[in-house]
Amino acid sequence: MNLEKIKAFAQAIIGDDTTGHDWRHALRVEANAKKISPKKLSADAIEVIRAACWLHDTIDEKIDPNKRASLIEVETVLRENGSSDEQTEEVLYIIQNLSYSKNIDKKQSLSFLGQIVQDADRLDALGAIGTARAFYYGGSKKHLIYDDTRPRQAEDITEENYREQNNVVNHFYEKLLRLKDSMNTEKGRQLAEHRTEFMKQFLEELFGEIQTVDED
Ligand code: ADP
Ligand code: NI
Repeated sequence: MNLEKIKAFAQAIIGDDTTGHDWRHALRVEANAKKISPKKLSADAIEVIRAACWLHDTIDEKIDPNKRASLIEVETVLRENGSSDEQTEEVLYIIQNLSYSKNIDKKQSLSFLGQIVQDADRLDALGAIGTARAFYYGGSKKHLIYDDTRPRQAEDITEENYREQNNVVNHFYEKLLRLKDSMNTEKGRQLAEHRTEFMKQFLEELFGEIQTVDED
């Protein structure tokens, strides 16, 4: 594959997206994939992984509709740049089936390479970078950091109080802290555990800091 051309295509689309799906996210996903990949992968398989990492958000609904790529465009770019039929099919399948919402019921349907890319993408939603992205994404959608209409005593600020609310802290409980349990690869799971511990510690500090004084 002409990887440079494929890279340039993806970069031109997601570039400086401001919801956390920008080009640097794609590069981090690529780096994560490298970390969790087995040592012996064929050159063709590595190309599939790298192309899928770069392209995975180019068709995402969260990308500006004026910029977002269609599946046909992605397919054309791949074919024009030396991707074989098998590679093209696999990359297209991976990028369409990677996301959390598409995987709630059918975890097993991704290929082995797809599972690596999925773990790599999930890792970028965890840890310090995942925490930064969650607040960044929430801000871009005008979500609150946390909802302060509930009781404000420290002992009331519990996990339970943050469920079912459309705010960023809730997103940790709804999705982020659970991601580690659905990792596909052992290496990915280990990294996810570590990143999740950091997020729990972050939330503990946060709850200590956000108590407000009762006015009576
Ligand atoms: P993916 O496409 O990888 O399944 P998303 O597009 O849902 O993931 O999420 C990308 C990033 O945006 C993640 O870091 C995620 O935590 C964050 N994000 C998505 N939805 C929310 C939300 N409701 N509140 C805060 N962050 C969110
Ligand atoms: Ni992504």
